[in-house]
Amino acid sequence: MDKIVITGGSRLKGEVRVSGAKNAALPILASAILSGGTSTYRNVPKLNDIRTMSKLLSLLGASVEPDKTGHQLAVSTSGIRNFHAPYELVKTMRASVLVLGPLVARHGQAIVSLPGGCAIGARPIDQHLKGLEAMGAKITLDKGNVIARARRLQGASIVCDLPTVTGTENLMMAAALAKGRSTIENAAREPEIEELARVINKMGGRVQGAGTSVITIEGVDELHPIDHAILPDRIEAGTFMVAAALTRGDVLVRDCLPEHLEAVIAKLRAAGAEVVPEAGGLRVRGRADILGVDITTQPHPGFPTDMQAQFMVLASVARGQSVITETIFENRYMHVQELARMGADIHVDGRTAVIRGVKKLTGTKVMATDLRASASLVLAGLVAAGTTEVLRVYHLDRGYEQIEKKLSKLGANVKRARDD
Ligand code: EPU
Repeated sequence: MDKIVITGGSRLKGEVRVSGAKNAALPILASAILSGGTSTYRNVPKLNDIRTMSKLLSLLGASVEPDKTGHQLAVSTSGIRNFHAPYELVKTMRASVLVLGPLVARHGQAIVSLPGGCAIGARPIDQHLKGLEAMGAKITLDKGNVIARARRLQGASIVCDLPTVTGTENLMMAAALAKGRSTIENAAREPEIEELARVINKMGGRVQGAGTSVITIEGVDELHPIDHAILPDRIEAGTFMVAAALTRGDVLVRDCLPEHLEAVIAKLRAAGAEVVPEAGGLRVRGRADILGVDITTQPHPGFPTDMQAQFMVLASVARGQSVITETIFENRYMHVQELARMGADIHVDGRTAVIRGVKKLTGTKVMATDLRASASLVLAGLVAAGTTEVLRVYHLDRGYEQIEKKLSKLGANVKRARDD
């Protein structure tokens, strides 16, 4: 297995280009099921989660052909004859559940293994199922699988109990081919949802209101294949922005969309960093004095849970005390014990973490059980004294494309090595 080895102490300088957004690409790849023919997706990030989604689509009977660069995928869905997303894939990646809505909508049936709990929380999919049922799907549970059937989905009024990102995406895709009008109230408002709506509309669908909490979808009889470039990854961008602030660096984060990063920018500024929009991206300059910040994670446009672990590292070396409250996932503090091993002073009580800034972190071997936690450990390694080894890099490879190469280009002392 690989590990990332970091020798701390370098100030990051230069430019880094943000890759395509994982959490936009995953539902978009699933949306290919809604049409026959071949869709082409560009700026697709080369990540393990994308490989898992490609594998799932292939298993269903689609063909997924990467170009030479691997960043462009041609997805042909005409051959889909299988409707089963098996446990082996769903357990590796919960976002596999995104094929549920499109399969029922276009093929009238889907069997998707029920994702179990995961490292960051229980993560049920009851809202996905409730919405599909409201559209007339018959849902049964059998041997750990969700079985959904419908002759043709019917438009419905759905009120989600809470805003769910993949839930809203699944229901939007299902409603796109349903008969009549659907409304999704209390919908999630993440930029990835707006992006999926753009994609469905490009395919000939009629979705309005994405990005607000009420989405209206007029179902159509047919959707057609498209050519689409995936928008930049706001969480990867945010992670590099924190890296710049943390190392007192000066980095231009290229190709990111500032309008998707407002909550992150506000907290970076509160922590004392300078964040300036420039042609082509956002420049982040770190100051010697990092200030403690209080953060509560919220659905978009609030502060994203996917940036919580990275900000905890910033808080760990800040002046004063920070209070971080995680409201989205009940168990998303798996990085805390690892950061504590590096010398961070963090006290967790339920969903709240109190962080007292320390003068320095010290490198050691650390490992994490989820993607963003792994990223936070890499960030900690950038400022820790000595060498940090981040183990179980496969978590990182799910969501960051060549993070070690991008950080090295900015002057960090980072390399990938075998962990024997
Ligand atoms: N929830 C329910 N019932 C449901 C659906 C969700 O109770 O039917 C709860 C969840 O347990 C959680 C909350 O609602 O407490 C929000 O979960 P959501 O469904 O919004 O999360 P998700 O769709 O499973 C996506 C991202 C996550 C990101 C969250 C929150 C993708 C593929 N994944 O997950 O990304 O943390 O939204 O923004 O889009 C990551 O990239 O590292 C990652 C975990």
